[in-house]
Amino acid sequence: MNMKWNYPLSRRSFLLAGTGAAIAASMRPWPTRAEGQNEVRLTAAPAQALLIAPDRPETAVWAYNGTVPGPVLRLRQGEPSRLLVENRLDEETTVHWHGIRLPNGMDGVPGLTQPPIRPGETFAYEFAPPDAGTFWYHPHADGLVQLGRGLAGPLIVEEREPVAVDRDVLWFLSDWRLTRDGKIAGGFGNMMDAGMSGRVGNMVTLNGRVSDAEPVRAGERIRLRLVNGALARMMALGFEGHRPVIIAIDGQPCEPQEAVGGRLLLGPAMRIDVVLDMQGEPGRRYAVTDDFYDGLAYTLTQLRYSQEPPLRAHPADAPIALPPNPLPEPDLTSAERHELTLQGGMMGGGMMKGMGGMDGMAMPGMNGGAVWAINGMSMTGDGDAHMEPALTFKRGQSVVLTLSNQTAWWHPMHVHGHSFRVLSRNGESVPHRQWQDTVLMQPKDTVEVAFVADNPGDWMLHCHVADHQMSGLMTVFRVA
Ligand code: C2O
Ligand code: CU
Ligand code: CU
Repeated sequence: MNMKWNYPLSRRSFLLAGTGAAIAASMRPWPTRAEGQNEVRLTAAPAQALLIAPDRPETAVWAYNGTVPGPVLRLRQGEPSRLLVENRLDEETTVHWHGIRLPNGMDGVPGLTQPPIRPGETFAYEFAPPDAGTFWYHPHADGLVQLGRGLAGPLIVEEREPVAVDRDVLWFLSDWRLTRDGKIAGGFGNMMDAGMSGRVGNMVTLNGRVSDAEPVRAGERIRLRLVNGALARMMALGFEGHRPVIIAIDGQPCEPQEAVGGRLLLGPAMRIDVVLDMQGEPGRRYAVTDDFYDGLAYTLTQLRYSQEPPLRAHPADAPIALPPNPLPEPDLTSAERHELTLQGGMMGGGMMKGMGGMDGMAMPGMNGGAVWAINGMSMTGDGDAHMEPALTFKRGQSVVLTLSNQTAWWHPMHVHGHSFRVLSRNGESVPHRQWQDTVLMQPKDTVEVAFVADNPGDWMLHCHVADHQMSGLMTVFRVA
């Protein structure tokens, strides 16, 4: 894939500008085993962030509680929580608790599930998260701009009995498109981004900073929670000299398994929890690379081993399987079946693809910027588009959706209010039938997912590449 046009500034030029020592000193520890919080206050407001290195200019961002990413929220599974969101931006906002199966009124979609939070207002979100795992939160109003300017943060729902590890570590990955002087580049929602890969940036941060290295100790066992909080960037992470074992995807536990080809594939909004045994040598460094885009591989960070002797003589062998979450099992024999066909977008060379003959579709930039469609319908923007739900399910109905990607682009398709089992890909059944809230689709992929429509309300289903969502790759279904 040729993505040159997307890179006004190479990441390397930033990395070379900061000295290794300065960057290393900037690493921030994250709390482990913190007590779950039952009441949290989040304030969305403009702030300054040091994304690159202390000797580089700060970047004007929009942030929750002044930091990017926002604070790590830790809730307890099944316990009622109250999250107060205050809007100190100049525009309306909401917060969406991505992946949490919560009551519809708490889902944070403006016009669909709640009135937007106007500047100066506060909204109280209240829910008891049913599932333990790694989730995240972000705005669902003007999401392309608000997420792209920094509004996002991690949300951990603690298991009642967590797996035994030496450290619980979170890497919240964000992708920024910065100008040469370190400002967030404008041009949100331009036609090239919308019709192609979305707003892929030129600098990736780990917990809000460009990371030179992350400290580890030989012999220790880490639970590493990876969150792709990017607007559009797909990631394929490889750990030199290490074998991460996946224990959860999108917060939902799975049978512990090594990644296919050793790379962890993370579309925007996806999470993967792995157990990493630090089997490297004291004093050495091992690269963590992202090579999703051909020719654009980069080193995300390095695992930097301390000089200390290994923490234990033999690798840890405690069980690492997580307890399952209480998800309702779809009944495939009685399931209703529906197809959702993803259409539109441009070809790599800028040619229109499949743009003719679809209802409500036109050239990008016209018709409210529709570039994409689902079953011929383009729901654009980031909230209520005054469209009838495309599908209505009786509460408790098992549903199989066949998602078929007729476009030339990748799409992480995300469902609200539910998680689905991924049954098959291109006609082949998928081992483990993993629960996910976001399924990454390659160009031309057909994927079957199944779930029980048990959560009443109007729910979004959309591509999580923000530009794609805003320009038509979105629909709504109703559970009544
Ligand atoms: Cu992360 Cu509509 O969601
Ligand atoms: Cu969501
Ligand atoms: Cu997409």
